Amino acid sequence: MQRTASTLAGKRLLITGANGGLGMATTAAALREGAHVTLACRTEEKAGKAADHALSESRVEPSRAVAAGGFDMLAPSAIESAVDALPAEPFDVVFLQAGGWVWSDDAQTTRFGAVNVERTIAKNVLGAHATLRALLATGRLGAGARVVIIGGEGARGVPGGISTPAFSDVSDFERYVSGDWVGRSPYVPVDALGVAKFCAALWALKLSKSPLDLDVVWFTPGLIGGTGGTNGMPAWKEFLFQKLAFPLMVALGKAQWPEAAAAKCVDCLAGRIGADGDLLGAPEGTALGPLTDQKPMHPQFGDADFQDALWRTCEAAVGPLTVAHVPSALAV
Ligand SMILES: NC(=O)c1ccc[n+]([C@@H]2O[C@H](COP(=O)([O-])OP(=O)(O)OC[C@H]3O[C@@H](n4cnc5c(N)ncnc54)[C@H](OP(=O)(O)O)[C@@H]3O)[C@@H](O)[C@H]2O)c1
Repeated sequence: MQRTASTLAGKRLLITGANGGLGMATTAAALREGAHVTLACRTEEKAGKAADHALSESRVEPSRAVAAGGFDMLAPSAIESAVDALPAEPFDVVFLQAGGWVWSDDAQTTRFGAVNVERTIAKNVLGAHATLRALLATGRLGAGARVVIIGGEGARGVPGGISTPAFSDVSDFERYVSGDWVGRSPYVPVDALGVAKFCAALWALKLSKSPLDLDVVWFTPGLIGGTGGTNGMPAWKEFLFQKLAFPLMVALGKAQWPEAAAAKCVDCLAGRIGADGDLLGAPEGTALGPLTDQKPMHPQFGDADFQDALWRTCEAAVGPLTVAHVPSALAV
């Protein structure tokens, strides 16, 4: 795994979901390192509160944090308008980390542009695609910009936690993505999150092979306690996780608090770890541990047919990625 002495000092960074547990801790850590951060959140109010919090944590010049609303990962047209409203100066680094699971006992699909998409994939991957597309189309991404999409160890399964995503072939995968659940086992939210992170890995690998001049990494810092990731659980379960399970797991080295995870994210955003096309996360069989490339751990990550199938869905739902000032021959 590449390690360099790069820094975020003076860089322009956009973070989606910056009001969440990991997003806010990463914002504060990036501000401390000298970045100019745009907090791209679902509403202006959430972005403003998160900016105030991150500024008070980092004690830096307030102008270095910009609060931006309208980044609803399930609403591509809202994302386009939100990007249009940003200052025109291009970003050097983008952290696509809004998302998480959908707490429901039933599989859910959402209409995304012209297609039906399973909801967890929609908010974790299609929203990221829509954000990147709008940034590229309006010239708000500099040449060679680093694009980090958040992953999760569930992409290759976590024993006792998340089932390994398994598809018999590409058409089976496409049926799942489009929400065709006929003949499948019952919907389990954490397993659906694993598949969404698997899709994020396919997306990152396809993007890194594209002619676009981007430096793309799929990155997960490992299991984190104390974030909003338990929102939507029944109250008793959330209480047990937050007050008992996570503190115990942190004490045992099985989970970490958001600040520790954010420090790893900043290493990756700055380019100190991870090269174009890497999928970085904890070693197989664990949800926390030394960062390692996950590519060999799921045979279908590297399958071009799976990457193409996911990409076709992104293009049908959102549109192709094209750069504002470059001829359309460079469309992916
Ligand atoms: N917690 C972990 O153990 C862990 C480990 C590895 C990776 N991750 C990933 O890290 C990311 C952040 O997770 P977290 O643990 O910090 O959870 P969190 O506190 O719940 O943060 C999730 C963030 O995503 C935003 N979000 C969710 N749905 C959205 C939508 N439709 N449109 C726009 N924003 C949306 C939330 O915004 P709202 O407040 O508006 O809902 C919030 O800012 C997630 O992608 C998660 O899967 C988490």
